[in-house]
Amino acid sequence: MPILPTHRPRRNRKSQVIRDMVQETRLTTHDFIYPIFITEGQNQQVAIKSMPGIHRFSVDRVIDEIGQCVELGIKSFAPFPQVNEVLKDRLARESANMEGLYLKTVAEIKRQFPEVVLMTDVAMDPYSSDGHDGIVDPDSGEILNDASLEVLGQMALAQARAGADIIGPSDMMDGRVAWIREVLDSNAFSHVSIMSYTAKYASAFYGPFRDALDSAPKKGDKKTYQMNYANRREALVELALDEQEGADMVMIKPALSYLDVIREVRNNTQLPVTAYNVSGEYAMVKAAAQQGWLDGEKTMMEVLTSIKRAGADAILTYFAKEAAEVLRRG
Ligand code: PBG
Repeated sequence: MPILPTHRPRRNRKSQVIRDMVQETRLTTHDFIYPIFITEGQNQQVAIKSMPGIHRFSVDRVIDEIGQCVELGIKSFAPFPQVNEVLKDRLARESANMEGLYLKTVAEIKRQFPEVVLMTDVAMDPYSSDGHDGIVDPDSGEILNDASLEVLGQMALAQARAGADIIGPSDMMDGRVAWIREVLDSNAFSHVSIMSYTAKYASAFYGPFRDALDSAPKKGDKKTYQMNYANRREALVELALDEQEGADMVMIKPALSYLDVIREVRNNTQLPVTAYNVSGEYAMVKAAAQQGWLDGEKTMMEVLTSIKRAGADAILTYFAKEAAEVLRRG
């Protein structure tokens, strides 16, 4: 005699109202930090081929874009600059130029939208003639950790002066959180936060971002500083250091292939945890949707919700604007 089930979890799924009642994770626009690409010029809005729907904006246009996002409820942005090749050098000097594209744009956004939160990126790669996040030793090709800290500290300080609310070191040099904290504190920027890219993996998913900014390494790869994607415990080593060094928030990057790492970090810290749903993760969904192989909108919402379910308090995502539109429609 077959035994009929006495426990029926399907009862909690029997109507939309009940499903909504027991839903554990909900996305809101407060969860989103929107990465935005900045370029030189006037009236520029250049589509990025490998990231359908994403553009590089000149300063004037980025103001319009941010205005539209604010209207949709997105209040946090992470600008990234495409730096003219002639301004790049070994030491990424352009990164501390208050009159340069990036810092002028940051200051202008804060002037027009004082209430938005800007997280600026600290790493040498967009300004480096070598395309690396740290200084490259010209003889050995080695990425020089301690010499790079000096550059990163100056970059962070310049960004704070331009009005950054949160500094986001994405370079993975050892000791940079403590170094940057010290530079900020000793220059009257103790109110500026640090969101550390705590566990940033050497990932193939960054491809479209490097196209967008022309920031790919000229030689070699980033495996001596970004983490091996085969490792999870190593993320906890980085987490412990970032906490000790004074990070206010920690980040996992990428997100989608690293949901286990997000959960692991969530279970091991009381700090806010964020995740970066990176360019390649965005491109994958868009490409399949363009082919008609996936429902782009549904896949987007599932991806974002899963990142939050894994333990992220906030998500850096190129989907921010589109997801905000979906949320608004309800
Ligand atoms: C570099 C940086 C990268 C991203 C953010 N900051 C790429 C890299 O390490 O090469 C990638 C973001 C994305 O792929 O969306 N400091």
